[in-house]
Order: sequence, then C-alpha cells, then structure tokens
Amino acid sequence: MDKEAAARRPLFRMFNDVPGKYDIMNRILTLGQDERWRKKATKLCLEEDPEHVLDICTGTADLALRISGMSEKEISITASDFSQPMLDVAAEKAQKLNGQEVKFVLADTADLPFEENQFNVTTIGFAFRNLTYKNKFAGQYLSEILRTLKPGGIFIIAESSQPKNLFLRFGFRVYLKVWVQWLGGLLSGHRKAYRYLAVSARNYYSPEEVKGLLEENGFTDFQHRPMLGGSAAIYSVRKPRL
Ligand SMILES: C[S@@+](CC[C@H](N)C(=O)[O-])C[C@H]1O[C@@H](n2cnc3c(N)ncnc32)[C@H](O)[C@@H]1O
Repeated sequence: MDKEAAARRPLFRMFNDVPGKYDIMNRILTLGQDERWRKKATKLCLEEDPEHVLDICTGTADLALRISGMSEKEISITASDFSQPMLDVAAEKAQKLNGQEVKFVLADTADLPFEENQFNVTTIGFAFRNLTYKNKFAGQYLSEILRTLKPGGIFIIAESSQPKNLFLRFGFRVYLKVWVQWLGGLLSGHRKAYRYLAVSARNYYSPEEVKGLLEENGFTDFQHRPMLGGSAAIYSVRKPRL
C-alpha cells in the first residue's frame, strides 16, 4: 500500500476490530432506530427504480441487504468496503438471508474499481461522517462517488445529524456521552471506537454544512429529511445531468 493510501486509513484498524459485535451494538445504541433509518433510505433508493445500486462503506451490509430484500425486481447490487473482516460478516449474513445476490467488493472509497457513470443510486449508511469529518481526503471520496454515478443518479446518505432545538441537542449530547461512549465502550470492549463515534457525532456538521460540502463537490438537488428530532438525517443529492 502506498503512503497516501495508508494515510487515508486512520480508522482502518478500528473497523477491523469491531465486526463481531457491530450489528448488536447498533441495535442497542440506537434502540433499533438505525434499522428504521436504513428502511427509509432503502425506500428512497427503490423509488428510483434502479438497475445498478452501489452501497459504499457497506460494513456488515445492513443497508445493501435491506435493498436486496425489499426490491421487487431483480437489480444489480454491489457493496464495497475497505475492511475484509466487515465484508466477511456481510457475506455470511447474505448467505443466511438467501435474498437477491449482493456482490461484495473490497475497495477504498477513494479509489473505486468501477467504471464511470455506472450506478443509478449510491447509498451510504452511517459512514459519511467517517469519510468527511476532519478527513482531508473528503474531496477525493466525493469525486469518486460522483464519477461512478450515472448523470441524474442519486446519492443517498443516512447519517447522524444535529437537532436544531437546543433542548433536544442537549439531550442528544448526553445520550452520546453516556449511552454511546460509556455504555458502547463497556459492552463492546472497544472504548476507542465508541469514543470516536460519540465525539465525531457530537461535533459533526449541521445539515447546512453537509449541503455546502456536497454542492462544493459537484452535487445538486440537495434534500434533507430529519429523523428523530434531527438527531439523524437522510440526505440526498444528484449528479448533474449532462
Ligand atoms: C460505521 S460503519 C457503517 C457500516 C454500514 N454502512 C452500516 O450502515 O452500518 C463504517 C464502515 O465504513 C468503512 N469505511 C470507512 N472508511 C472507508 C473508506 N475510505 N473506504 C471504504 N470503506 C470505508 C468501514 O470499514 C466500516 O465498515
């Protein structure tokens, strides 16, 4: 691996350590809400009637497998991640579910091994923050996502957000500190990973900042759907038509 590729991976070891307990921790820490948010993202994806879908930073593939399970027609679904241990858990789940085939690809989002203009929809579940929060390679990730989308194609993002209401925002911060950082660290045994999750979510961008970032990087048609008082959001943007 060259130096730049290595530098893009400060979180790489952290993600290689957590796959075994990743799903159960998500359910506990969000009280099952994460599945509701993925379902909403899936509905938006399927409303596009896509032929080719890419789920980047797929992790254990909860979003890709939901798309595969909810689609009534045969579609081509590719799911990529740079962590082989995460993809191993994903492939095992896919086998048990026995749904439509999902093609798993080991890939860094900064260097996607796909043709340009290939996908009608690209999705990302709870990893956009990893690609963009204090990440100097954010522009590189976004340019790869744009390159591989078809003109007019949609990029759907499920991510934590910042409640506008001050009272809710305070509650969200307490939840992140107590429930996510302390309890998550304790139950999972991966204190560093859950500290990163809590701190990055607490300081993450507002919807206006996410919009600015996406538009600066060539996307249009920004839409924001706040979830659970604004503590999470489903964003979508499009690649401009030719
Ligand atoms: C928080 S998990 C999200 C997993 C899944 N999308 C979900 O909905 O639960 C973040 C995932 O992004 C992956 N990831 C982070 N940075 C990446 C990058 N630059 N390229 C590819 N995968 C990356 C990690 O390996 C991890 O599996």
